[in-house]
Amino acid sequence: MNTMVSASRADIEGKRVFLRVDFNVPVSGSKVLDDFKITSVMSTIRYIHSADPKRIVIGSHFGRPNGKHVEELSLKPVYDVLKKIVLDEFGAELFFCEMSDLSGVGHTWVLLENLRFYEAEESSGDEAACAEYRRLFTNSMDVAIIDSFGCLHRECGSIQRTGLRSFPGVFMQKELEFAESLLQRDVDVMILGGKKVSDKSKLLMSLGRRAKCLIILGGLSYPFLKYRLHKEVGNSIVDDVSESTIQMICDVLDSNQTEVILPIDFVVVDKGKAQIMNEIPSSGCGLDIGPATIRLVQERVSMAESVFWNGPPGVFEQHGLSDGTRALVGILESMKTNGKRCLCGGGETSAAIRMFGKYESFTHVSTGGGVLMKFLSGEDLPGLEFLMHQPYALNI
Ligand code: 3PG
Repeated sequence: MNTMVSASRADIEGKRVFLRVDFNVPVSGSKVLDDFKITSVMSTIRYIHSADPKRIVIGSHFGRPNGKHVEELSLKPVYDVLKKIVLDEFGAELFFCEMSDLSGVGHTWVLLENLRFYEAEESSGDEAACAEYRRLFTNSMDVAIIDSFGCLHRECGSIQRTGLRSFPGVFMQKELEFAESLLQRDVDVMILGGKKVSDKSKLLMSLGRRAKCLIILGGLSYPFLKYRLHKEVGNSIVDDVSESTIQMICDVLDSNQTEVILPIDFVVVDKGKAQIMNEIPSSGCGLDIGPATIRLVQERVSMAESVFWNGPPGVFEQHGLSDGTRALVGILESMKTNGKRCLCGGGETSAAIRMFGKYESFTHVSTGGGVLMKFLSGEDLPGLEFLMHQPYALNI
């Protein structure tokens, strides 16, 4: 188990605390479209605040500016959301500044401008730049709390190279507990969808070893329909993965005696027209699941005590191809109301929940996208490695 110990009160009291978060949120113009990643770390912010720190300096990356100052990738829209939260909940003013200006700032609460404006945030190639970057942390802060689960799979100067004693945040530990539970074989049904098998073949292998029942939907299902069931899939996505990869995944599922459920009807786009079909014609392209598949999923989910969902079953952003995803969100939302567990994760999955449901209707929605897929696929996460092996994050 990756159980790590949070910073104690003594580690925080009277200290200048750096809180590393993942505020890489969807933004349109100057408006945050979804504040889920911001509200998720409030448990950690409350914990730090209750331990009476001298100062709380919050830092995050945003987008991919590649070490340059890119005005459109400023964290200002996030600042506008967070300053209101900090004022309402803690009665304090939140200051916003570049990290290089921090030494002249006297405020207790600070949000730093996008850390990826510094080259040393992502690259460790230039030693002098890294040393300079590290000094920005050590000059103004005493201790780091790392709560940025979403980027543990990245090399980040503000996680691994601050030179500060570093502890995992409260929210991040919850994310890790959730991710680990999926590897413990204690989830009854796993529903995997998404665009391509090539993006998720490692995930399918890894979860295929653990799943009791695996429901494969969306773009992920067509290669299985073609190579496992020898069905016509027309122009649906299959080309990105070889038959031998599908065979390898099927071998894992079969040797594990995993029950595998594939779609039985589809929304097929053929000659510019979308229609529900039980079979995909050679000229058609499957782009969503049909009503019979939705019923099948509902039946199977109703028998489960716990479900994990990653990846939409259709092209849900498009009108006419979103019914499957909308229905799936509804089916899964009813689990929590019925005292059952539903865990979800992944970038597109949370976007679908945002569009058709409510985050709070699920037991846990992970803020992690790429990191969750890598964790569940058994790949190394440099940020997690760092936290596990530095002396302040105890591995018990
Ligand atoms: C995310 O949004 O998945 C994380 O913030 C990681 O972002 P990145 O893929 O730009 O590193």
